[in-house]
Amino acid sequence: MPSDPKLRSFAPRLIAWQKQHGRHALPWQGGIQADAYPVWLSEIMLQQTQVETVIPYFQRFLASFPDLATLAAAHEDVVLGHWSGLGYYSRARNLHAAARRVVAEHGGQFPRDIDAILALPGIGRSTAAAIAAFAFNERRAILDGNVKRVLARVFGIEGWPGEKMVENRLWALAETLLPDADIRAYTQGLMDLGATVCTRGKPRCERCPYADDCIANIQCRQRELPAARPKKVMPEKSTAMLVLLNAGEVLLEKRPNSGIWGGLWSLPEFPEQDDPQAAASRLGYQAVRVDEMPGELPGFKHSFTHFRLYIQPWRLQVSRSPTAAEPGRIWLSLDDLDGAALPTPVRRILEALSQ
Ligand code: ADE
Repeated sequence: MPSDPKLRSFAPRLIAWQKQHGRHALPWQGGIQADAYPVWLSEIMLQQTQVETVIPYFQRFLASFPDLATLAAAHEDVVLGHWSGLGYYSRARNLHAAARRVVAEHGGQFPRDIDAILALPGIGRSTAAAIAAFAFNERRAILDGNVKRVLARVFGIEGWPGEKMVENRLWALAETLLPDADIRAYTQGLMDLGATVCTRGKPRCERCPYADDCIANIQCRQRELPAARPKKVMPEKSTAMLVLLNAGEVLLEKRPNSGIWGGLWSLPEFPEQDDPQAAASRLGYQAVRVDEMPGELPGFKHSFTHFRLYIQPWRLQVSRSPTAAEPGRIWLSLDDLDGAALPTPVRRILEALSQ
């Protein structure tokens, strides 16, 4: 138990605040002993995505894969289809791989041991701790982006939290602050405070239990704490995509498992400066009705974490020449986009077409 009163009172104040003002009806919040599977699923979905976006995905996912064994037995494409639109698809592939590992190595029971949880694909230190706290009531410290912001502001931690030294300090602080009991309310409180009060822009400090002694609030430095990542210019890449159409169907290719959109079904790409008809014929398809096609659809930008991609789609009506089975290619009906495992910009292009 720390001797500094600010450190000592941190957890009790947060727990009291969470019980009164925190979120209590989230679909993954179980009763006394929550089932680890929905807790795990929710924590993975919530890694880069906000609660309101996650809820319908979480519900659809659980309806199709109600338990870990069902998920482990499912085909990866079906799992990825349920993730379509959430982004960061490695989360879905890791979740699926982890479910299979739990079946193979833990008899289908999600492990309780923190090192066994951490060993599963897609689960880092903070996610493992959140699962252990919510599902097993274990006293573990979390430190996601929201928590880093809360701690950096309340305790005036300088420096960019992505830097190892700063992150280590925040982890040490997070461990020091842990309460002896009520770990679930405390952990949920940290997340709730970060998501609803101590937000990045326009924090609602008047509603915060730490308003009186938060360094950022006292010094009016909410915009400076936590310090931003040192600026670097976001690289821009460009690509052209072929929308090959035949009888209401579009040609899709499976992306390699590594890299962006790994494992998803995407449109064939070619260098932006090349001719779309030549690109189609390299795939074995001849454009017909060239009087109308190819037509240029509006190009647009799609942002990833590390770069922006300018996408120029080209629509071509083709005759269906390659008839033998083509591994890694499918023709998908424009009426069947809903459950397909498509990258978001590809879905956007195809939905615009099918309207
Ligand atoms: N963000 C990450 N995990 C969360 C949870 N369990 N509840 C709300 N927001 C979260």
